[in-house]
Amino acid sequence: MTDKQAKLEIGTDSLDLPVLQGSCGPDVVDIRKLYGSTGKFTFDPGYKSTASCESALTFIDGEEGVLLHRGYPIGQLAENSSFMETAYLLLNNDLPSQGELDDFTYTISRHTMLHEQLMQFYRGFRRDAHPMAIMCGVVGALSAFYHDSTDISDPDHRKISSHRLIAKMPTIAAAAYKYSIGQPFVYPDNSLSYTGNFLRMTFGVPAEPYEVNPVVEKALDRIFILHADHEQNASTSTVRLAGSSGANPFACIAAGIACLWGPAHGGANEAALNMLKEIGTPDRIPHYIERAKDRNDPFRLMGFGHRVYKNYDPRAAVMQKTVREVFDSLGVKDPVFETALQLEEIALNDDYFREKKLFPNVDFYSGIILSAIGFPTTMFTALFALARTVGWVAQWNEMISDPGQVIGRPRQLYTGPTERDYLSMDKR
Ligand code: ACO
Repeated sequence: MTDKQAKLEIGTDSLDLPVLQGSCGPDVVDIRKLYGSTGKFTFDPGYKSTASCESALTFIDGEEGVLLHRGYPIGQLAENSSFMETAYLLLNNDLPSQGELDDFTYTISRHTMLHEQLMQFYRGFRRDAHPMAIMCGVVGALSAFYHDSTDISDPDHRKISSHRLIAKMPTIAAAAYKYSIGQPFVYPDNSLSYTGNFLRMTFGVPAEPYEVNPVVEKALDRIFILHADHEQNASTSTVRLAGSSGANPFACIAAGIACLWGPAHGGANEAALNMLKEIGTPDRIPHYIERAKDRNDPFRLMGFGHRVYKNYDPRAAVMQKTVREVFDSLGVKDPVFETALQLEEIALNDDYFREKKLFPNVDFYSGIILSAIGFPTTMFTALFALARTVGWVAQWNEMISDPGQVIGRPRQLYTGPTERDYLSMDKR
């Protein structure tokens, strides 16, 4: 709390509201007593001006292009840590010692298998089912198998179910892919890293050994770090809202997956790659730039713009560098990457994009790498869900551990009919 107060005047009534101060970021006007004191609600569709919770996990300064996890800049984490280390940090507040990291990695690796009966669920889906449809179903179904960790009031249960979710997500996502291409499921190999294991389960086959390419492994691990958490975005808020009623964590994460699926959120990397392929060659860029600027054309530059970042998305910078590393190492030359680089340069020098503060976001380059690694576009959002599970689980734990936690229940501005009497059928 600061000593500042906000004064709200409605007609002749006035109300002093406390102003809260976080460790970073804008002050927050505390309106919790507003309805009780004035009988009025606030109206903020899309939560453009509303903080829905207190959180100590992730901080974003969208104007400056800053993203911190537990205080550590995303660029430093992407450069120096691993996905397991970042996961530990998000869950436990501090970077682990070597012993803590080894224990955590070991624990996660011991939860990678799925109940065998759950593997049979896959056969109930059509072969052409979208991996996200399968993920929603299978992750939700985890709650039917792991009853021994769904008492959310028990911290040990919460910890075990968190570990299970993080550990099983690669197995679930890889199996969704294998099912779609008609290949046998590949079971986890716990001697591999979290990301190496996922690559093997996705691209390996039982008929021959699979060798993990260390450059690809590192690049994908970094992509997972970049997607691990992003404060109160739509899917995380969905997980929190679902969890606020006391629903079990598996059901809550399934809700997050459903929300992430949308093209304005997790589906944007797929859309960005499709757009870059459609543009095809740099000479066609000006035509698409003009389309993006035309108010009468619904076309938008996918992978550009962000609700929070009004500066270069720090994740996009790391992503662009990673594309170069992967391409150099694999000897890949992809005209789509050249098109992306030139599109970025042209857009960043265009008054329309500068004035509206539209910069590349994390999705602009991620599809290019994922495609080079061999993932079909339908898997892109599933990979995002896999990585974001860490953030969802950490945010869910933070919420449940908060003694002041209450069920999330927004109000509304009602615009429907006022009270009227029921009309019998012959009077309608
Ligand atoms: N291309 C062209 N114009 C754009 C773009 C774009 N990508 N993004 C925003 N604008 C324009 C809008 O037309 C609008 O113009 P106006 O003021 O003249 O009407 C203005 O910029 C503000 O746009 P809003 O949609 O109001 O901004 P908002 O913050 O609500 O939207 C969003 C953010 C949804 C990400 C938007 O920038 C967009 O659609 N981008 C493309 C999709 C995308 O890349 N999404 C990924 C987000 S990152 C993630 O989820 C991981």
